[in-house]
Amino acid sequence: MAKILITGSNGMLAYDLIPILQQSYEVVGYDRELLDITNIENIKTILEKEQVSIIINCAAYTNVDAAEDEGKLVNYQVNAFGIYLLAKICKNMDIDLIHISTDYVFDGTKKSGYLPQDIPNPINQYGMAKYLGEQLLKSEYPNAILVRTSWLYGGGSQFKNFVNTMLKLAETRNELKVVNDQFGSPTYSKDLSKAILDIINNIGNYRGNIFHLCNQTQGNGITWYDFAQEIFRLTQKNIDCQRCTSEEFLTKAKRPQYSKLTNDNEIVLRSWKEGLEEYVKYI
Ligand SMILES: NC(=O)c1ccc[n+]([C@@H]2O[C@H](COP(=O)([O-])OP(=O)(O)OC[C@H]3O[C@@H](n4cnc5c(N)ncnc54)[C@H](OP(=O)(O)O)[C@@H]3O)[C@@H](O)[C@H]2O)c1
Repeated sequence: MAKILITGSNGMLAYDLIPILQQSYEVVGYDRELLDITNIENIKTILEKEQVSIIINCAAYTNVDAAEDEGKLVNYQVNAFGIYLLAKICKNMDIDLIHISTDYVFDGTKKSGYLPQDIPNPINQYGMAKYLGEQLLKSEYPNAILVRTSWLYGGGSQFKNFVNTMLKLAETRNELKVVNDQFGSPTYSKDLSKAILDIINNIGNYRGNIFHLCNQTQGNGITWYDFAQEIFRLTQKNIDCQRCTSEEFLTKAKRPQYSKLTNDNEIVLRSWKEGLEEYVKYI
């Protein structure tokens, strides 16, 4: 049985991924305290000890706005340099590496959905560091597997994600303005985790591949406003939800306008509404 190591094990995706993989594989999770992906000696020591055959890198710096200023350095250290180290070491030790990246590597000008072979052109610091990480991954370890996902939510109520934020706001507010000019595809982390399990089950066929994995949306994707409306409908929250523009809701980091990812492989996630329905029942 393959043994799998998950980095960033205290994060949202790892929280859902570990138990799903544990149903079929031996899995060890390491959080930042025990395995810092920016520390070469730390990585080598743990990998020599654990003797795993697959690593899934869930470790990342994910504060998109802070990455514009106070988090700029750590953003590049973790999302780019850390990936370089993992890729180099995994290649030397012949360990399969699955790395998670983001729709924010794209500039948001393609309305019809980004394909894995589309060329990234990030418009914020987080996207730039993640893209640099992708490039280092591919140059150091061409057989590594790259999984891009988007608008991720899951884990439980302890994690910061859009669904949890909307539900928290609904406890104290009667009305809310939500951005209606950014389009994308939400992804339930349990659905993503099952897709990653599918990749692992057939890893011999997928080395070197890029996957775009998100829940299915129609057309150009949905907006944050559409997402919020569905959250409030499913949870029967009586809140006056109004549309606003990105200009009205300014953030430090610019977001891509269209960042739907298109799946062009055999691994397909279910519709975004089904994933969301399961999550809101669960939390
Ligand atoms: N969340 C989204 O909307 C979204 C969308 C698209 C793609 N993604 C990608 O999906 C992946 C998983 O995201 P997530 O939402 O699960 O992120 P998350 O909840 O922020 O988890 C990331 C984990 O990485 C850890 N970490 C940070 N620096 C580290 C280091 N130097 N060494 C080891 N671990 C470190 C963090 O630990 P600390 O908390 O202790 O710092 C945290 O536990 C990431 O690659 C992210 O870029 C996320």
